[in-house]
Amino acid sequence: MQNPTEKSALKTAMGSARRLFVIIGAFSFFINILMLVGPLYMLQIYDRVLASRSYDTLVALTVLAVGLIATSALLELVRSRILTRLGSRFDEDLKESVFSAMFDHQLRGRTAEGSQFLRDTDAVRGFLTGPGLVAFFDAPWTPVFIAVIFLFHPLLGAVALGGAILLFGLAVLSEFITRNPLKSSAARGLEAYEFASSSLRNAEAVHAMGMIPQVRSRWQDLHEKGLALQNRATDRAGALTAIAKFIRPCLQIGMLGFGAYLVIQEAITPGVMIAASIIMGRALAPVEAAINNWRQFISARGAYSRLQQLLDANPSRSDQLPLPQPEGHLKVENVTAMPPRGGKPILQGVSFDLSPGQMLGVIGPSAAGKSTLARLLVGVWPRAAGHVRLDGGELANWPPEQLGMNIGYLPQDVELLSGTVAENIARMHQPDSEKVIAAARLCDAHELILRLPDGYETHIGEGGCVLSGGQRQRIALARALYGGPCLVVLDEPNANLDSDGEAALQKTLTRLKSRNRTVVVVSHRPAILTAVDLVLVLRGGQLETFGPRDEVLPRLMSGVRSIPNSAEEQKERPRVRSRK
Ligand SMILES: Nc1ncnc2c1ncn2[C@@H]1O[C@H](COP(=O)(O)OP(=O)(O)OP(=O)(O)O)[C@@H](O)[C@H]1O
Ligand SMILES: [Mg+2]
Repeated sequence: MQNPTEKSALKTAMGSARRLFVIIGAFSFFINILMLVGPLYMLQIYDRVLASRSYDTLVALTVLAVGLIATSALLELVRSRILTRLGSRFDEDLKESVFSAMFDHQLRGRTAEGSQFLRDTDAVRGFLTGPGLVAFFDAPWTPVFIAVIFLFHPLLGAVALGGAILLFGLAVLSEFITRNPLKSSAARGLEAYEFASSSLRNAEAVHAMGMIPQVRSRWQDLHEKGLALQNRATDRAGALTAIAKFIRPCLQIGMLGFGAYLVIQEAITPGVMIAASIIMGRALAPVEAAINNWRQFISARGAYSRLQQLLDANPSRSDQLPLPQPEGHLKVENVTAMPPRGGKPILQGVSFDLSPGQMLGVIGPSAAGKSTLARLLVGVWPRAAGHVRLDGGELANWPPEQLGMNIGYLPQDVELLSGTVAENIARMHQPDSEKVIAAARLCDAHELILRLPDGYETHIGEGGCVLSGGQRQRIALARALYGGPCLVVLDEPNANLDSDGEAALQKTLTRLKSRNRTVVVVSHRPAILTAVDLVLVLRGGQLETFGPRDEVLPRLMSGVRSIPNSAEEQKERPRVRSRK
């Protein structure tokens, strides 16, 4: 599945981030050097100005120090702006690939994370622009500052080094004791969220049948489990923070105490004592920042590895070369479809060919694999074996956008997107009114749409107009026909239609045929079969019969009066010779 371009999205994002890291590193170098201005000023004041009582030195030193501190502040400002740019660039480089990969991921049936990946991108970006990353750049300076203190006096250096090791140990400990509960808590939280949103989607059934208390208690269960784990992690992290808060001033006291001792011993001057104490503060700052931002770091790291997995498993297909415009030759060769999570194949060894202008009716009992076949034909279900070719090109080898423009698909469970009717028909492109109306007329939905409150401009979806099942299905049919695709696959297009709708559908099918489109219609209802040329009977995931309608239907009808539903019925029926 993997080719060299696949990791590139995250790699590109990190690559361009890395270039900025170098600049940020350079800024951090100067900012940290300038950190020494304060302590050195203090040192000079105590040991030189106070000793010499020279106003000139005082003024000169003060002007110099203020100038350097202003420079440092300016550098910090620029560094924080670069960090913000870094975040937006990371976001820009990645969001497009993540968004597309998210859809591929969903299509493979791994639905649990859903839109988590967009939150993951935010988490990584948040870390890249936050104080946690700055701590990383400042951390290499900790040894340098400690070395400076060692130069003052080894005893003071030892205090600072001991302090840094102690605090760093706490940071590492915090990683170990919070990692697992935080990870499980995030997983439980996600489960609770998914459960709540799936229940909300079924609000009507949940309410009508009084399921709210049960649904609520199940959600509460998941939610509380997540919360308990989170509390455990927060408690542990809190204890460590308290310990760090105790250690920190103790170190300051230790530094001043030992400093005073050394001053009394006349080993160092009071200026050195103060300067050492300030430098130690700087040396420990990144370690403290690391402790404070550890949680953010862990979640950003988790988010990063999830994104990596997502992008590795769902490579971008956008760089495929466009192929010549297809005419609609569909060739299905021995395809097998497996459930995403493994198990028995849903479809096995199905083969047939269709030419432009041919119309195929797919029939068979429930769960025979009809919808799965429809999904395979439009390339949304990854086949396990065999080939589905459009004009000779494997579906997976078509650039997705070009393939999409040439395919019309009406899924069995019609959902429209949030937007106007025209936008939905135009597949969320800027609606081209001529093409939109042409598509609507082609399936006789024009009048129906004009009767809606704002006609083609009627807003549907969240906060908009609620359409009936039949209306939805007819608008979705217009969407499938928008732009004149050469291959049209309709999964139970008449499931919600009244007799008018059904008559309109028949007319639509005839029109499509006269326009030389390749059409596949899945249906339970034999009425639709009057329009088709070929019939394919699926049963238990296998092709049972395939042939011209006028040959297949009489045989089916003479066997049993309707499409047989069960294995028993099938046994009673005379065998139909397969034309595989
Ligand atoms: N995402 C999925 N994961 C696992 N199994 C699936 C999935 N989708 C479908 N199946 C299984 O594949 C089989 C065929 O399903 P399919 O939806 O293709 O049937 P169908 O012929 O369209 O039925 P119906 O007439 O009821 O729409 C079923 O047993 C179903 O459980
Ligand atoms: Mg189906």
